Amino acid sequence: MRPLAFAIVLAGCHAATSPDDAAPDVDDLFPVEVAEGLAPTPPMGWNSWNRFACDLDADLIEQTAEAMVSSGMRDAGYSYVNLDDCWQEVDRDESGHVVPASNFPDGIAPVADAIHALDLKLGIYSDRGTATCGGRTGSQGHEVDDANDYAAWGVDYLKYDNCNADTNAVVQQTQYETMSQALAASGRPIVFSLCAWAFHEWSVDAGQLWRVSADIVDGWGSSNFNLVQTRRAAAYAQPNGWNDPDMLEVGNGGMSDVEYRAQFSLWALSAAPLIAGNDLRTMSDETRAILTNEEVIALDQDALGLQGAPVRYDGQASVWAKPLNQSGTRGVILFNESEISLPVTVSWAEIGLRPGKATVRDLWAHKDLGQATDRFTATVQPHEALTLRVVGTEPQIPTGTVSVSELTPTYAANLLGLVERDASNGTDAPGEGAALSVDGTTYERGLGVSAPSRVIYRLGRRCSSFHAVAGMDDGATGTASFEVWGDDERLFQSGPVAASAAQTVDVDVSGKSRLTLLVTSAGDISDADLADWADATLECE
Ligand code: GLA
Repeated sequence: MRPLAFAIVLAGCHAATSPDDAAPDVDDLFPVEVAEGLAPTPPMGWNSWNRFACDLDADLIEQTAEAMVSSGMRDAGYSYVNLDDCWQEVDRDESGHVVPASNFPDGIAPVADAIHALDLKLGIYSDRGTATCGGRTGSQGHEVDDANDYAAWGVDYLKYDNCNADTNAVVQQTQYETMSQALAASGRPIVFSLCAWAFHEWSVDAGQLWRVSADIVDGWGSSNFNLVQTRRAAAYAQPNGWNDPDMLEVGNGGMSDVEYRAQFSLWALSAAPLIAGNDLRTMSDETRAILTNEEVIALDQDALGLQGAPVRYDGQASVWAKPLNQSGTRGVILFNESEISLPVTVSWAEIGLRPGKATVRDLWAHKDLGQATDRFTATVQPHEALTLRVVGTEPQIPTGTVSVSELTPTYAANLLGLVERDASNGTDAPGEGAALSVDGTTYERGLGVSAPSRVIYRLGRRCSSFHAVAGMDDGATGTASFEVWGDDERLFQSGPVAASAAQTVDVDVSGKSRLTLLVTSAGDISDADLADWADATLECE
């Protein structure tokens, strides 16, 4: 797993406003600088497939780029104009090079030039197999030539599909890695978007974004299905590595504007790539307003690069949240999947803030809703994702000897529902776990997680050591890898841990602002990877 690549800008102390005491608090978690790299925040752009399938040509691409500028999308952060399938011929030329089809009569380079002249970037599409899903030539065996041709044409982004190829898992991984290396060797920075229709752990080192699901279609069920798939992999998201629940359907006509706003909000809170898939040339004012809502886009492009996750399920309503790159600030969605209006409440405690006053802003109404104490309740319409920015106060940093399960995490992502405190994880339901049990020993305290899981605590540089027994819960049959991070430094890495092979963790966290407990899947994501941070304890001042 690559390190979380963000740097702390504010190294000193400053006084946080505390509702319950006036003591200055060490708060050097935020803000961070935007990371370096090809995709420090999720890529934003447009792709031809959802709306046009194989019916694309150079005129459409250039007109779309112009519309991206005139609609205000470029100014809102969109930069990639991406060709999908069917830009290329079925056969290669005599020397084995890919040939643009007759819909691109002058080739790709002039299209790239036109796009670059608008201060935008061009994306292209190919496939790891012998042919693309649409039957055009694939890159298998031609990876180096193709990468070099893309670079020579001025291409900035490659989406790489999974059709007509060997289904063997090792071959699949090797073929994606071969293209990743060819792009890196091409001499041009080219974002690599893997389209393998499911999460694979090796993608994290191969590209900047990876599809986590089957193809989206323009409907409510499909949108929410893909949301769940990306939620399951949330712990892997970080700057330069994003889970991709597929391109947006906003504006394509199959859903209501309420539903499109929900899709856009949930994609943004999930730090998903925001790749529009509609006709930008003819979109309605309402569609344009959705795609250019800069307050919602800011949730997506936040420099911390955390993927928002549910903090509570309440029947068909759920509360989603993530920390934003400013002390005490959270993006929050109150999501109603049901067919009736529902009151939904978010408490400050469940989004990792102190009780007391916090301000609430509605990011679709563009309206401050004032201050709320301890919690906020709103009536949420059917299929609405009420999208909020909450600014309150970070919780106290720990003091003395403290069980980690007593602390409020700043952030928690977990495969199966919520991280359990002092119990194992088991299913999506909260509080369902049994006692923590590792290698035959039962533990009263600790965290029960399911891989992949990422839990972040604020230490305020006041703690000296972290202790835990890191192992698979005795109720589990899977494997997982445990990592402990202090700020951007990996302090512990277990390697794959199977049942009955727990490791004791004792690490120095002196001077660290945040503690990250990361459990990765040691292979593909599995519901059997139930992992425990048993006896997790911090020693603090
Ligand atoms: C696959 C991909 C889609 C699209 C089509 C093109 O289905 O998942 O996103 O690229 O191929 O044929």
